Amino acid sequence: MRKAVIAGNWKMHMNCAEARAFAHTFRGQVENLPEDRQVVIAPPYLAIPTLSEALRGTPVAIAAQNVHWDKKGAYTGMVSAPMLLEHGVTHAIVGHSEPRKYYSETDEQINLRARTAQIYGLIPILCVGESLDQREARETERVIHRQVEQGLEGIAPDRLIVAYEPIWAIGTGKSCAAEEANRICGLIRGWVGDPEVIVQYGGSVNPATIDDLMAQPEIDGVLVGGASLDPISFGRIVNYQVPVGVS
Ligand code: PGA
Repeated sequence: MRKAVIAGNWKMHMNCAEARAFAHTFRGQVENLPEDRQVVIAPPYLAIPTLSEALRGTPVAIAAQNVHWDKKGAYTGMVSAPMLLEHGVTHAIVGHSEPRKYYSETDEQINLRARTAQIYGLIPILCVGESLDQREARETERVIHRQVEQGLEGIAPDRLIVAYEPIWAIGTGKSCAAEEANRICGLIRGWVGDPEVIVQYGGSVNPATIDDLMAQPEIDGVLVGGASLDPISFGRIVNYQVPVGVS
């Protein structure tokens, strides 16, 4: 049985003081967290030690927003997997559409990042998803299939999360319809080739859409940007409810 993973991606938001204040309120939100789900938060690198310390004793895991493919070296501005492990990080987002767009990350680099993450025991959260133009040109399946195939070469599917994040739904307030997100997540699971792989949906997830998304059988969790910055809103998301008999 696949365990749901609810992840927050803070992007370039929250300094250490803000992360501490978030944790203070969020602790109460995860006091009675149901056992069938895992919560992960990816703060900016500089807030990782503070958040990790402030959430100690809670079931919340800490992720990095990216990870380099080498363990150390002349890579100005980068952070390696061993550096993250020192602070208790367990997951690393790779291939998010923002670094793909702003820093021209390629599927090959993303694959190297995911491989290195796994070698060091971090769980990569590989993000894939089509742009609006690609969707309108009916290229959605082809684009995502390529991202999955190239991104996951040599990757073990049992220590992996894939997040379906349609670019047109990120930060726009236009969430993908739950049924369509479910369809694509199912395709991704088939392409990965392991029925146990965890596949999330991401893109404008909020407290009003979470229950519907989590009621979909192929969606095993969500990757949340904007709505993860507020502890009460993210608290509602992690405490999603699905009707009895639906999973
Ligand atoms: P959003 O971001 O929830 O603000 O749309 C999602 C993401 O980029 O992971």
